[in-house]
Amino acid sequence: MKMNTQADRIKVQEYAAPYDLVSYLNEYHRSIAAPDEFWVEQSRLLDWKSPFSKVRNVDFGTQGVTIRWFEDGVLNACVNCVDRHLGQRGNQTAILWESDEPGVTEKITYSELHASVCRLANGLRALGIRKGDCVAIYLPMIPEVAIAMLACARIGAIHSVVFAGFSADALAGRVRDCGARLVITADASVRAGKRIPLKSNVDEALRSCPLVEKCIVVARTSADVDWDAERDVRYVELVDAQSRECEPEWMNAEDPLFVLYTSGSTGTPKGVLHTTAGYLLSCALSHRHVFDLREDDIYWCSADVGWITGHSYIVYGPLANGATTLMFEGVPTYPSPSRFWEICDRHGVTIFYTAPTAIRALMREGDDHVRSTDRSSLRVLGSVGEPINPEAWRWYFEIVGDGRCPVVDTWWQTETGTIMIAPIPGVTPLKPGSATFPLFGVEPVLVNNSGDEIEGAGEGLLCLKQAGPGIMRTIYGDPKRFFKTYFGRIPGLYFTGDGCRRDEDGYYWITGRIDDVINVSGHRLGTAEIESALVAHPAVAEAAVVGYPHETKGQGIHAFITVKAGIEETEKLLGELRLSVRRQIGPIAQPDVIQWAASLPKTRSGKIMRRVLRKLAEGQTNDLGDMSTLAEPGVVATLAKSTQARG
Ligand code: WTA
Repeated sequence: MKMNTQADRIKVQEYAAPYDLVSYLNEYHRSIAAPDEFWVEQSRLLDWKSPFSKVRNVDFGTQGVTIRWFEDGVLNACVNCVDRHLGQRGNQTAILWESDEPGVTEKITYSELHASVCRLANGLRALGIRKGDCVAIYLPMIPEVAIAMLACARIGAIHSVVFAGFSADALAGRVRDCGARLVITADASVRAGKRIPLKSNVDEALRSCPLVEKCIVVARTSADVDWDAERDVRYVELVDAQSRECEPEWMNAEDPLFVLYTSGSTGTPKGVLHTTAGYLLSCALSHRHVFDLREDDIYWCSADVGWITGHSYIVYGPLANGATTLMFEGVPTYPSPSRFWEICDRHGVTIFYTAPTAIRALMREGDDHVRSTDRSSLRVLGSVGEPINPEAWRWYFEIVGDGRCPVVDTWWQTETGTIMIAPIPGVTPLKPGSATFPLFGVEPVLVNNSGDEIEGAGEGLLCLKQAGPGIMRTIYGDPKRFFKTYFGRIPGLYFTGDGCRRDEDGYYWITGRIDDVINVSGHRLGTAEIESALVAHPAVAEAAVVGYPHETKGQGIHAFITVKAGIEETEKLLGELRLSVRRQIGPIAQPDVIQWAASLPKTRSGKIMRRVLRKLAEGQTNDLGDMSTLAEPGVVATLAKSTQARG
């Protein structure tokens, strides 16, 4: 990797780096050139019940893919995240919870976490859950969500966490796809002082999920809920009856740990499957280096556990490293836009990891909300989920971090499981807006549209030649789709779906998705999913959804709707369309703009020209590009004049 010493790069002078750039790069190159040797050494970060004899069995082949790591090793992820810390850290806080209500907190030590996890694990076993069964978790940001994940891991059950902001329909689809036999939920969630019912969503979802036998319900509030005496089990009653000890299930390194659904370009969300050892090791290693984890750190990742960031960097990474992980139930702006920084002050947070959408939203509220707080405990700031624009990066660095804290912009995906490209604090000179360099074991390549590799500086599709042990193993129940989506496009390489530029210093700059996935406030959504929620409305003939640049959300959702003949384009219908999306997916997928379209621009072969719709959504009506393949040229001019409804 060529390094330039000139100064468009920020080096945080005060930061006491754990090692220097040369030794980091040497170690990185060794991880690529001699992966077996490198990963044998790193594997000592985990405790193994019995060791592995083979490190890697990986082939990103043109006919099929093999990804197996440490394949004859035996271990348990929960034991690695909890039990092994009991000797030294039994009384250290493992989970530090701050509720929606400011200052209402709970500290759970590693010993307490162990007891709670064992009790629930025993409870799950008592309800008939065994190794290999799938358990769906639909919980808000309360400690029980981590306890539930770890309890599953302890007994070898595969967890499938569904973001609590998803609707009953979205939950039902995910529960059915993974064949879950049990659901863990809460009566309600609490956000910004409001209660949002959860159990009633589960009741509705389970009407179409015949495999689910039991539903465990945590009482977060005192809300009244409907009760099915045959099916529903009170969390407290279940765990109170159980022992504080629970023999773990010893798992093969490649046994599944969890499934997590994520949106793709087409079709229904994909169940991304991660397995035990490789995933956990990659979580522990990346968490340690990217955040420069130290003893006594108070580490906080503000993501929701319903997304991969929460899985890897609220639960598995920090706990595997024996850290204190802060979990926050509420939102950044309640009761005021100072909330994040007040939490940092209250708990002495040293490492803070959030999304650009939150940074931009808080930046808009003005610097006073930040300056009124102390934040001197902060040492490292992280960003994840979407490209961070240099302006937001600088505000985060200068205003939030007072110019003292390196900002680590971390690029990765649900599929990669853990961070792939990111700086090391104090080690990697930073460029605002760049995720900088690949981590250990990660070999990115840029290719052009014909699949040829681009050397040196240039821009292209981001692919991975090597991805380390944490990458997904398959799409649950659909290995063909797995191969086609990720390995079918560019032979021999994992295809990320992102565009990327590499500058003359070797820095990587992610430019965003090149497929029909959009990223709204760091939430990944498939345009096809939103379209199908819209066409489900009987008045709609056709719908096309595209993303457009949005000041705080990163991308907004713009829907073009063609109604059926004889249907009127009314305000009432707009309301129904929004509701249809909320019901089928959730509030995060509700379009920001709905535009009536007498017809949609199509090629002569009938394909919707999304490129043209994207331009229209961006308001660039004068620069629509090549329209020679358009079947009916008049369509676009009509569309450019048609009405749009916002909000
Ligand atoms: C985008 C979230 C630029 C990217 C961890 C990727 C980013 C998708 C960054 C994955 C970043 C994530 N800079 N873009 N630092 N981090 N992305 O699966 O488009 O929810 O493909 O995983 O988010 O989203 P996912």
